[in-house]
Amino acid sequence: MKYYFAPMEGVTGSLYRRVHATHFPGLDRYFIPFLEPREGKCFDGRDKREIDPAENRGIPVVPQMLTNRADRFLEGARRLAELGYGEVNLNLGCPARTVVTRGKGCGLLERPEELERLLDEIFAKSPLPISVKTRLGISEEEEFDDLLKLYRRYPMTELIVHARVLDDQYKGPVRQDCFARSLEGAPWPVCYNGDLFTARGIEAFAQRFPQTDRLMLGRGLIGNPGLVRERKEGRPVTRQELRAFHDQLLEEYRIRLSGDRNVLCWMKELWFYMICLFPDGGKEAKAIRKAQRLEDYQLAVSWLFEQRELKTEVGYHR
Ligand SMILES: Cc1cc2nc3c(=O)[nH]c(=O)nc-3n(C[C@H](O)[C@H](O)[C@H](O)COP(=O)(O)O)c2cc1C
Repeated sequence: MKYYFAPMEGVTGSLYRRVHATHFPGLDRYFIPFLEPREGKCFDGRDKREIDPAENRGIPVVPQMLTNRADRFLEGARRLAELGYGEVNLNLGCPARTVVTRGKGCGLLERPEELERLLDEIFAKSPLPISVKTRLGISEEEEFDDLLKLYRRYPMTELIVHARVLDDQYKGPVRQDCFARSLEGAPWPVCYNGDLFTARGIEAFAQRFPQTDRLMLGRGLIGNPGLVRERKEGRPVTRQELRAFHDQLLEEYRIRLSGDRNVLCWMKELWFYMICLFPDGGKEAKAIRKAQRLEDYQLAVSWLFEQRELKTEVGYHR
């Protein structure tokens, strides 16, 4: 089985990816959160840093683009090729309102003719091989049949399926029966994504879909950064390992970001997911959330690590 780290804008930036790959090696790919190629400069400051080869040295990364413009996609792909990238991913799954209303991400699934024109052009002209990350549709999973018919016309490197429709956002049960349709006679490899939060959950999925050989993990892997190793080797993350991972991340954010507020913002976002490792840590979680100064934050984190038991069986839950 291959394991991919899902792109998560605001969470899995280059620094996070680097620290994660150092402490928990063994993932097959890290997807870079979406880049939006623009008129003129194509990629701006933040995006430029995300794809800077120096920021990603030694880590198997795949850049992702969010656009409905073939010319911008192609310009972005050309620049990525110049930087040495071997593949680019197209985002057809982002459910954020601001993205969807501009006809990008999952919003493109609502405009089949526009989507077809985009795919025709980028697959004909892209200097890089393309993979696609998609949802099942907008409101009904039945929409996936037509989408699959369309996708099958293109020589993508793989199709990554988040098994929900736009209207589900990230909630409600994943639609694995519908995901199964993508496997029937697929001309390319299909990667599953959605709600795999524990080693046991991954095991159950693998038993149900033995023909699937690649999984993309997002919130479950942020929640438990050692999840893939636990699944592969039966060795769950220890308190010491998690602490070392956390401390290095904190240190690097302090060096990279300006101001404690910024650092706290990134760390608190992480704890939104990682707190699942401490099912009895409600009090400390609140102290982490409320911390306004770095010292208060560090104190709360120390309490958590010293006083609460670490458990990986529960996993991230919404
Ligand atoms: C905060 C956040 C940011 C995300 N950013 C991206 C992104 O940049 N590109 C993308 O394709 N998906 C993005 N996603 C979706 C995830 O990649 C993934 O598909 C989703 O979390 C479902 O997988 P999971 O159940 O394993 O978390 C994001 C999700 C979240 C919660």
